[in-house]
Amino acid sequence: MGRKQKAIKIIEGLEITSIAAEGYAIGRDDNQVVFVKYAAPGDIVDVKIVKKKKNFKEGQIIHFQQRSPLRVDPFCPYFSHCGGCKWQHMPYESQLQFKQQQVIDALERIGGIQGFEVVPILGSQKTQAYRNKLELTFSDRAWMIDFVKDSDVPRPRALGFHMPGQFNQLIDIEACYLMPDYVNQIQRSIKAICDEKEISFHDVQRHEGLMRNVMFRCNEKDEWMLVVAFYENDLDTIETVMSHIKMHFDRVVSLNYIVNTKMNDAMQGCEVIHYSGAFHLTESLGDYTFIIQPLSFFQTNTQQAKRLYDITKDFAGLTGSENVYDLYTGTGSIAIYVSEGAKSLVGIEYVEVAIEDAKINATNNGVNHAVFYAGDMKDVFSDALFEQHGMPDVIITDPPREGMHPDVVSRINESGAQRVVYVSCNPATQARDIKGMQEHYRLVKVQPVDMFPHTHHVENVALLERI
Ligand SMILES: C[S@@+](CC[C@H](N)C(=O)[O-])C[C@H]1O[C@@H](n2cnc3c(N)ncnc32)[C@H](O)[C@@H]1O
Repeated sequence: MGRKQKAIKIIEGLEITSIAAEGYAIGRDDNQVVFVKYAAPGDIVDVKIVKKKKNFKEGQIIHFQQRSPLRVDPFCPYFSHCGGCKWQHMPYESQLQFKQQQVIDALERIGGIQGFEVVPILGSQKTQAYRNKLELTFSDRAWMIDFVKDSDVPRPRALGFHMPGQFNQLIDIEACYLMPDYVNQIQRSIKAICDEKEISFHDVQRHEGLMRNVMFRCNEKDEWMLVVAFYENDLDTIETVMSHIKMHFDRVVSLNYIVNTKMNDAMQGCEVIHYSGAFHLTESLGDYTFIIQPLSFFQTNTQQAKRLYDITKDFAGLTGSENVYDLYTGTGSIAIYVSEGAKSLVGIEYVEVAIEDAKINATNNGVNHAVFYAGDMKDVFSDALFEQHGMPDVIITDPPREGMHPDVVSRINESGAQRVVYVSCNPATQARDIKGMQEHYRLVKVQPVDMFPHTHHVENVALLERI
């Protein structure tokens, strides 16, 4: 029996009216919202419906009836395939406006909050080569734009990025413009040596092939760190690849590798084997220096990180007499950055090695009035901790995209802290959490900060004061 063919639904002449969260733009059809990727307000497009739910549809552009006057030519040839920079088709000034609007919309619609001040969004001075970290993946078969399933056409190998949402489709890239060009020189050279020596690339479905991933980091002094992930402990071939990088790239001051035999590519949890140079990079933010170990978290846009921390410090309004809690402290960077103005500091974070780094960072910077604890926030940020270190006067919180656990929100509410500075990379969860604090805290002001030009991501710093 033949399979039933679903009729393809097309909407013609859909007018794109605004930008939505997660990199989508929106139009309306039959009074229903239609989410469309890679569209700009002002476009009139024909879209193929790829998802249909009770309250919304998702469409894919198949034809432009009219291009928005807002549009600019994307500078990257992989735009709309790699998924990294969903907003390259819009000018930077418009991107900033849309990001700021997203923050306001989230607070008003999700948080139900009104009457707060919006300090204009702080754009990034660098709009290309602003990242200090990038991770590329190897694949034995590149994704190809004109690839026909089950065809006999051989697919070349790839070193590049995943197609959005597709773990087994990899786009081979010659260059990424988000990190200084040295990254491209190194990655092309690694690929060339692998081709020359016939070193295999990983097949994620069959789980075979040696080369898996490579992570690049650099600091403002243009010193580089690499972590190369191999699938097997094939020491001869590992030596071939690592010695090649060491010999040809003298700005790589920290060279490391891991052997990842897991089913997934995540480097976290793997043992890092130090090959040559130093084991960590150092980075300065203002008067402070931080060590960056191969797998530890560090803000990805260094110049904007400093400006983000400056806003955080300003919002915290420290006078030298405050007991400050820095929740989700990572390697202690915010706690240390604001330390001069605090009487005492407590930093909490669940990655143990990050807390080890935080302690080293504090010592290296002569910050002797900070203590750091590793553990899940909802367990560690507790009455017992308050008894030991005193009640907080100011809380700075910088959670991951999921926002804070409800127990953590409740604990903040009960803490009596006069001020809360909430740094967030997700306006939706930030708005939800601030809503949960409304009976105890008033949202005074927010300042969005753009850490990631050409992407839809936005960071937002919010100041809340105790009612
Ligand atoms: C957005 S990062 C902020 C890091 C740091 N504030 C900075 O600026 O570098 C969020 C941090 O929260 C940590 N984290 C995530 N979930 C956590 C939890 N349940 N308990 C404690 N820390 C957590 C992550 O490991 C990460 O370091």
